[in-house]
Amino acid sequence: MTVPMSIPKHFLDISDFDATTLNGIIARSRAMKDARKGCPKGLRETDEPLKGRMLALIFERPSTRTRVSFEVGMRQLGGDTLVLTGSEMQLGRGETIADTARVLSRYVDAIMIRAAAHETVTELAAAASVPVINGLTNLTHPCQVMADVMTLEEHLAPLKDLTISWVGDGNNVAASWVQAVGRLGGRLRIGAPAELAPARGVMDWAKAAGADVSLTTSPEEAVAGADCVITDCWVSMHNTDSASRHNLLRPYQVNAKLMRLAKPNAKFMHCLPAHRGEEVTDEVIDSQNSLILDEAENRLHVQKAILLHCLGA
Ligand code: CP
Ligand code: NVA
Repeated sequence: MTVPMSIPKHFLDISDFDATTLNGIIARSRAMKDARKGCPKGLRETDEPLKGRMLALIFERPSTRTRVSFEVGMRQLGGDTLVLTGSEMQLGRGETIADTARVLSRYVDAIMIRAAAHETVTELAAAASVPVINGLTNLTHPCQVMADVMTLEEHLAPLKDLTISWVGDGNNVAASWVQAVGRLGGRLRIGAPAELAPARGVMDWAKAAGADVSLTTSPEEAVAGADCVITDCWVSMHNTDSASRHNLLRPYQVNAKLMRLAKPNAKFMHCLPAHRGEEVTDEVIDSQNSLILDEAENRLHVQKAILLHCLGA
């Protein structure tokens, strides 16, 4: 007789969750952040809710924030991590994703993966018997946008009451923003060249979800009256067409002139790493209204709450 296995609680995309679950994760992040104010970064939570748990971190692409925030977060929760580089694993020599998932599930309690292709994450999750967390793919970056929503709400108001402007490449981070607005409310105004607008499937999902998401090729129109302007690099890790992207995206630089069209004192966000002088000027990214470091910090807090959600702790 085979024992039925329970389905692991993955964190693959924001669109997989309802508003109650997403808001619950953000509320827990905020509570953990508040409770740690002034504490040393390495201090473990007193109850060590993930004591004895092991998290594998697989990187098929480089990372600073994702790696460090998951490693520190898991330790603060009392658990441990091990970092695996895709190219150093048998995965890089053709071992299947499904076999990798089944084997890792015998060693670790959860897997975070930054994958070159989104299908790698979904295939891993389909075969794993432990939770899988999406740490960025070519299509989405849900942990980043959860941290960004938390950050905006700390500084401004609930997302449902805000108008957000995305300027530039309609990339993986933009797609997760569309999903966040679809689930949590708010208005998202995307200003992108037609060639680099979010994929048709992303916009179709937004329409079906009743999300208030609009698309224009005019950066000025996109930022008009916005509470926050967000951008990202012009060439993501999976892109190869660097020269044509620079040409297409040059008119979408977020500079002081563009910011003046948003609300007075509108916030600026960027997931980092930034290419200063390209998608954003120093004047904007270093301004009083730039939230970049809070976004980076909140990766730590929100991912701890995601780990607790996935591991049922
Ligand atoms: N924002 C973000 O995911 O940064 P890293 O690529 O450094 O992890
Ligand atoms: N859009 C960027 C995000 C980096 C965190 C990329 O995929 O490279």
